Amino acid sequence: MSWDINQAIKDVDEALERLIPAEDTFPQEIHRAVRYSVFAGGKRLRPLLTLAAAEIFGVPRLHALPAACAIEMVHTYSLIHDDLPALDDDDYRRGRLSNHKVFGDAMAILAGDSLLTLAFETLAAEATAYFAPATVVRLTEALGKAAGMSGMIGGQVVDLLSEGKQVNAATLDYIHRHKTGALFTCCIKSGAIMGGASLEEMQRLTVFAQNIGLAFQIVDDILDITGDEAALGKKTGADQNRQKATYPALYGLKQAEEKARDLLSAAEKEMEYFGDAGKSLLFLAKKLVEREK
Ligand code: IPE
Ligand code: IPE
Ligand code: MG
Ligand code: MG
Ligand code: MG
Repeated sequence: MSWDINQAIKDVDEALERLIPAEDTFPQEIHRAVRYSVFAGGKRLRPLLTLAAAEIFGVPRLHALPAACAIEMVHTYSLIHDDLPALDDDDYRRGRLSNHKVFGDAMAILAGDSLLTLAFETLAAEATAYFAPATVVRLTEALGKAAGMSGMIGGQVVDLLSEGKQVNAATLDYIHRHKTGALFTCCIKSGAIMGGASLEEMQRLTVFAQNIGLAFQIVDDILDITGDEAALGKKTGADQNRQKATYPALYGLKQAEEKARDLLSAAEKEMEYFGDAGKSLLFLAKKLVEREK
């Protein structure tokens, strides 16, 4: 089975284009702000993971796209808010000025809010065309949980509270598994929910997702030190400036790199169960751990 990643990105972009109101919709300012960040050239890893997980179960791509796009909306909202002066105070994102640098803090906050709410509207309005109501409810619960206080927000809170502090391994693990891992897990779980996965399949995919979610954030931490700003589309050295709790800060670069590789191996092992059907998910996992941007 071959997986055309560029075609998958194109499908995601086209679906987002359709789901997000046009720039000339009143009030234009909010639609411009939302579109500015959504169509800024993100890697689209999360929706790709959802599509790949859904494909394991033979879910047609068209059917999986609303859930995949809903997650990308939540992710983009999280980036807009993460960059605000009250949070990480970053001026660059996805290769351009951060949303608040162009539209101001108020509009950036509202653009984030818009994307978070549009995500749930999308599940309710679009996923229902292809799935039973009970399936849409499960997708909704999974996304709400992953984005909220027991997921991403929890991680963001502890991330902020830990700035400038010496954190222990358990706290660092909590931060990474929640601020980033929770949404990654939601991507893959959503694919499994749409595909009617068995309990065993769901458990294996969850373990796979948790491993690559943590690995992804460790690599993000590493690239903040070793990465190329132009390729990353965001400033490097930001974590050290804000004295963030990161894997390289606690364990050193070499051990952080080893940890990311070990997590990828553990994830790969979990996917053996799925044989050929899991190939595209494996391809993405490898790509996101071995990435340079
Ligand atoms: C950045 O995510 C935020 C983290 C959770 C580390 P990505 O590196 O996936 O960002 P985009 O979507 O490609 O811009
Ligand atoms: C991002 O973590 C987690 C989010 C929920 C957005 P970071 O703060 O490390 O992400 P970057 O480095 O700004 O992309
Ligand atoms: Mg942050
Ligand atoms: Mg940040
Ligand atoms: Mg980072």
